[in-house]
Amino acid sequence: MTTENPPASSPRVALITGANIGIGRVTAVRLAELGFTVFLAGRSAKRTQVVIDEIHALTQTSDRAFYLPLELDDLNSVRACAGLFLARELPLHLLINNAGLAGDKGQTKQGFEMAFGVNHLGHFLLTQLLLDKLKASAPARVVTVASRAHLMAVQGLDWNALDKPTRSLTGTREYGASKLANILFSAHLAKVLAGTGVSSYSLHPGVVDTEVWREVPNWLRPLLRLRGLLTPEQGAQTSLYCALQAPAQESGLYYDKCRIKTPSRVAQDEQLALQLWNQSLQWVEAYR
Ligand SMILES: NC(=O)c1ccc[n+]([C@@H]2O[C@H](COP(=O)([O-])OP(=O)(O)OC[C@H]3O[C@@H](n4cnc5c(N)ncnc54)[C@H](OP(=O)(O)O)[C@@H]3O)[C@@H](O)[C@H]2O)c1
Repeated sequence: MTTENPPASSPRVALITGANIGIGRVTAVRLAELGFTVFLAGRSAKRTQVVIDEIHALTQTSDRAFYLPLELDDLNSVRACAGLFLARELPLHLLINNAGLAGDKGQTKQGFEMAFGVNHLGHFLLTQLLLDKLKASAPARVVTVASRAHLMAVQGLDWNALDKPTRSLTGTREYGASKLANILFSAHLAKVLAGTGVSSYSLHPGVVDTEVWREVPNWLRPLLRLRGLLTPEQGAQTSLYCALQAPAQESGLYYDKCRIKTPSRVAQDEQLALQLWNQSLQWVEAYR
């Protein structure tokens, strides 16, 4: 396992969650190839080491990629992860909130609905803890991988369901709500960060052939395949576009196929975004 600090001369630093596989893996590898020092935050050191080795082989370096332990279903683990990164006293130019699950049911360690807790609340706290570092490293960006699945959450967020076990049979309704939360969070983050040189983007990566569908019941999978799955390489393109190319003045917007896309009406609800922001702050403060 690579644990030492990257060289002080490293120009750009990125932290990517869920980078051991899927869209996150491709994003991390590509950023490292472009010269970023990448921190891969996830729950398996062993599986992440495979990607770290791949990066070092591709870049012919031994100090371009580092592992950070992170379990997004445990707010204490999120705090520990941010603490480990901040202890390195490095800048942070890119935070990519990529990790996610679909169809997993239950509750996080602190009792939040599983999809909401992992996909939104864990990333919300991670971002809060790294905000000062991002501002100090400006220009910097926060990229949050959301989904077209937010369209399922037409009614907005059911506040009473967010701190309870998953109710639906497939977990897809809760997944949609968590991805709506990702878009609302990213949009409000852009407001909070206005004038700081840090911009915020959310995106739909496409329907991509990754492990994210592992909990989806077998009978639903043919429907996914009918929609024509993208490869993880194709699926990482919009994340990379938001990380590297989207204009800073487009901060707060939602992207699909490397272009601005208008999300659902409820995803554009500024009051709901503010309410989610304030409620999320209260929740993470309650579990310090
Ligand atoms: N694939 C699609 O079609 C699609 C469509 C729309 C949006 N997205 C979004 O794209 C993002 C990346 O997903 P993917 O398709 O690349 O799926 P993936 O291959 O399953 O990767 C998901 C990553 O998230 C990590 N993760 C899950 N639960 C976690 C937890 N509790 N703590 C820390 N890490 C956790 C996984 O870690 P482990 O390997 O340890 O489980 C894995 O590294 C997700 O946000 C997903 O919602 C995907």
